[in-house]
Formats: sequence, C-alpha cells, structure tokens
Amino acid sequence: MSGFFLSFEGIDGSGKSTQARMLAELLRGQGREVVLTREPGGSPGAEEIRRLVLEGDPDRWSAETEILLFTAARRDHLEKTIRPALARGAVVICDRFADSTRIFQGVTRGDLSATVDRLHGLMIGVEPDLTLLIDLDPEQGLARAQARRGSEMRFEDMGLAFQTHARAGFLALAQAHPARFRVVPGDAPAQSVAQAVAAAVLPHLPQAG
Ligand code: TMP
Repeated sequence: MSGFFLSFEGIDGSGKSTQARMLAELLRGQGREVVLTREPGGSPGAEEIRRLVLEGDPDRWSAETEILLFTAARRDHLEKTIRPALARGAVVICDRFADSTRIFQGVTRGDLSATVDRLHGLMIGVEPDLTLLIDLDPEQGLARAQARRGSEMRFEDMGLAFQTHARAGFLALAQAHPARFRVVPGDAPAQSVAQAVAAAVLPHLPQAG
C-alpha cells in the first residue's frame, strides 16, 4: 500500500472530528488526494451497522456483541474504502479506528482486551501509520457532546465515569505505542489545535505535488 493512513482518536466531544476535517482541508489545499472517513461507518454496509451500535438503549448490546459489530463494520470499511484509497496513493484520514474498540469495548466496558486483540488479528490486521489522540478533560468533552445531542447518544449516555475511564485508556495506549501515537491537547481554540496536529503530521508525509 503506497498511501498514508492516519487516524484520530479521543473521547466523545474531544473535537477530533473537527480536527480531522481541518487536516483534510489543509492537505487537499496542498494538492493531495485525501479520503476523509469515519468509524463506525465509512462504507455503505458499515454505515448501516453504525445505526445499530450508536442508537438506542445503552443496554441494547453486550460488550461482546459490540466487538463483533464494530469489527464487522471495520472489515467492510477496510475492504471497500480504506485499502482501495491507500492503493491509489491517497492519504486516508479516519475519524476513529481499531483503538476505539480497544478502549471502549476492550477496557471501558469490561476486561475484554484479549478478545478484541484476537479478533483484530484475525479480521483486520492493520494499524494506521500515525494516530492523533486529541486529549480532553471528560467533563468538557461530555458537555460538548451533550450540547449537540442527536440520535447517536448511546455511548454518551453511558456517563462521565465511562468517559473518564476511556480517557485514561487512550493515554495508556498512546504511552504503550509511542512510535504510532501523537497526543495533542484538545483544550484550546480549534485553530491552535489544528496547528499542533499539522506539526505532528506533516513531517511524516511525502512532499506534496
Ligand atoms: P463518534 O462520536 O466519534 O462518531 O463515535 C461514535 C461512538 O462509537 C463513540 O461514542 C465511540 C463509539 N465507538 C466504540 O465504542 N467502538 C468503536 O470501535 C468505535 C469506532 C466507536
């Protein structure tokens, strides 16, 4: 695969989707082909699974069933969107990838890390070239997420303790994989966060043009 694969991670309301969009605009402005995509979703089949996992009652699925659903969505996304884009040489910017399953299903909803890792090895088997973790205090994140309250609130409705646990999980994961992760503080105006993101990403990309 000749393109570059970037993911954004963080708790709900961290601002990572805004940052993913801003980075996509910056890189497109440099003349690069950018595929901005998201998980769960990013392909027609995976977008259908998205509705199943993000809407409805927090108790709707067990953590084990969620691992299967998120991994099924990811496999479809990889086959239909990510791999073809990387093969064309595009920069793929993915709003969440496998680290979200590692944290939300593997750690936050129970001690299921070994299950998540085995299924990942079996069905996905790739990691992003670089992962930006947008780090934010969970109270601020949850307040932002609640303020834009829509139909996709299943995880936000799991509450502050859940998001606090998730933040600690993401920071620990970043520490365990320092070559792949860059941690960017999300507690600043979007433009300054975007500058920090660009400074972390640009040295890794081949010269534009
Ligand atoms: P989003 O708000 O960034 O679109 O993410 C949707 C929610 O899905 C978010 O609360 C985290 C959750 N999620 C998981 O629990 N596991 C996963 O593997 C992914 C990709 C997302």
